[in-house]
Amino acid sequence: TEYTTLLTETRGRVATITLNRPEALNALNSTLVRELIDAALAFDADPGVGAIVLTGSEKAFAAGADIKEMADQSYADMYLGGPFPGWGGFERMRTPLIAAVSGFALGGGCELAMMCDIIIAADTAKFGQPEINLGVLPGFGGSQRLPRAIGKYKAAEMILTGRMMGAEEAERSGLVSRVVPASELLAEAAKTAETIASKSLPAVYAAKDALQAAQEMPLAEGLRFERQAFAAAFATDDQSEGMHAFAEKRAPEFRHR
Ligand code: HXC
Repeated sequence: TEYTTLLTETRGRVATITLNRPEALNALNSTLVRELIDAALAFDADPGVGAIVLTGSEKAFAAGADIKEMADQSYADMYLGGPFPGWGGFERMRTPLIAAVSGFALGGGCELAMMCDIIIAADTAKFGQPEINLGVLPGFGGSQRLPRAIGKYKAAEMILTGRMMGAEEAERSGLVSRVVPASELLAEAAKTAETIASKSLPAVYAAKDALQAAQEMPLAEGLRFERQAFAAAFATDDQSEGMHAFAEKRAPEFRHR
């Protein structure tokens, strides 16, 4: 498919989506959001794709929702989904998403990164929720995901003042999985994606489901979920292959079944 605001690529079992609206620092306008959800859901539906890397440019992962497009929207426009319907599908994706963040990840850009499972940051990355400067508040989940990621007090400081956080502070705070030199960002993200894509896909889906449950459920419920999911893994061929390969001192050959 040809997109106007994205580049997509597949290499082996790894797909890459590159946000490509350089004139606006990858601001998320309605076209970009529609295309992003489209591309991501198409990769998600393809069992040949085991992991997805989502990235932007060197200067910006994404500088947030497109402010100029949003400026004249009404309450009803926004409540009905406005220029950005369809996020529910993105948030329910089953394929692991790795955000490779260089430069600005602000507002909706920071929130988009937080919708991913893993965030790898270049040392140049800057995270922030500057919506307060625009007379609004985070609207793509930032007020909920940021405190879960970095705790109430750090999240409140960022959301109420709009201050940005550099890569090192973000790593220290638990907002990013890992910081790497900017020049190595894409290679490191690809390596992580390839590692995940080499595992049993049903096991990866189940592990992502369980991680999701940890974000959403009380502990006792989450532990019950895990107990079922763990037992269910023993219904797959890949469980047998993985365990026998270990005992036989060889690499497993997962067939994603
Ligand atoms: C529209 C944007 C934009 C945005 C940058 N641009 N961010 N356009 N929406 N979010 C445009 C600029 O207008 C400019 O266009 C071009 O991109 C380059 O940006 P500059 O500002 O000239 O670059 P620089 O001086 O380097 O500053 C970078 C920056 C700044 C610090 C990132 O652009 C900035 O503060 N952007 C806004 C960040 C923000 O507030 N994000 C939160 C948005 S609200 P021209 O045409 O002038 O060259 C949000 C809500 C999410 O995300 C929830 C929705 C439901």
